[in-house]
Amino acid sequence: MRVVILKNADAVAKSAAEESIRRIGLADLVGTADLVGTAGLVGTAGLDSVKTPLEKPVVVGLATGGTPLGLYREWIHAYQAGQISFANTMSFNLDEYVGIPPRDPRSYHAYMHENLFRHIDIPPGRSFIPKTDVSNLDESAADYEWKIEQAGGIDYQILGIGSDGHIGFNEMGSSLASRTRVKTLTKKTRMDNARYFDSFDAVPKMAITMGIGTIMNARSILLLATGAGKAKAIRDTAEGPVTAMVPASVLQFHDDVTLMIDEEAAKDLSHREYYLESEANRRRIELAESTGLQIE
Ligand code: F6R
Repeated sequence: MRVVILKNADAVAKSAAEESIRRIGLADLVGTADLVGTAGLVGTAGLDSVKTPLEKPVVVGLATGGTPLGLYREWIHAYQAGQISFANTMSFNLDEYVGIPPRDPRSYHAYMHENLFRHIDIPPGRSFIPKTDVSNLDESAADYEWKIEQAGGIDYQILGIGSDGHIGFNEMGSSLASRTRVKTLTKKTRMDNARYFDSFDAVPKMAITMGIGTIMNARSILLLATGAGKAKAIRDTAEGPVTAMVPASVLQFHDDVTLMIDEEAAKDLSHREYYLESEANRRRIELAESTGLQIE
């Protein structure tokens, strides 16, 4: 597990944007918008000099909540500056509340529209969020899981983390192999999220969430955490035992996970110096690769 410790939330947002743009290849997608869906044209004479549409959209997993807002702002700035494009991406959100209709400003549908989708060029119909305005929630959850599979799985997953260590809305005790399904929110999560509602009682009691198994199938994962309120969850995730009591701890089993956190969220880590040294070495390796010089 790679642990990147940065000064503050702003630095986390900027580094997360840089890292994700590079890993998803968002800068390479600039200019593909008019070619998306014209895969038949790949290789046609004359097109070699222009952008070639990718054979398959890049599938990005998205989170809501306070933490990824800085990252989304950075993406929007880069898009508006013409540096990146979402034209050949597809997105799946982690979760949606039960009992809050998509048009309600407190829904995650509304959050995503307001904070990201309406500002960028992700094609209509390519972004998915669990549907909870249905009579059969189990069917809806199973259908969501199937859609992710049909899309070829998630290439790059953005995660936040609950103060109790939840990822998505997989609360403590969630099966570490779980798939998309309905989960009951803990009192702690409802208290944490009461700031987005008029009162604690107004916070929904359930959500449809991607499962832990679903998240673990993502090829690469970037987990963001800022603020002292996340310090214990981060320590348990990175340095504690793997346990369903701290769902994020299962990420220790994933082979491509980065925790990008600020100093406050890092404050309870026992091996802070080691993580900083590892990052410094990573930069030395990158420098050696780009210059062709050997590391002394
Ligand atoms: C949101 C989600 C949750 C949040 C977590 C942290 O889609 O799945 O796991 O990432 O509750 O929320 P914030 O960022 O508001 O502290």
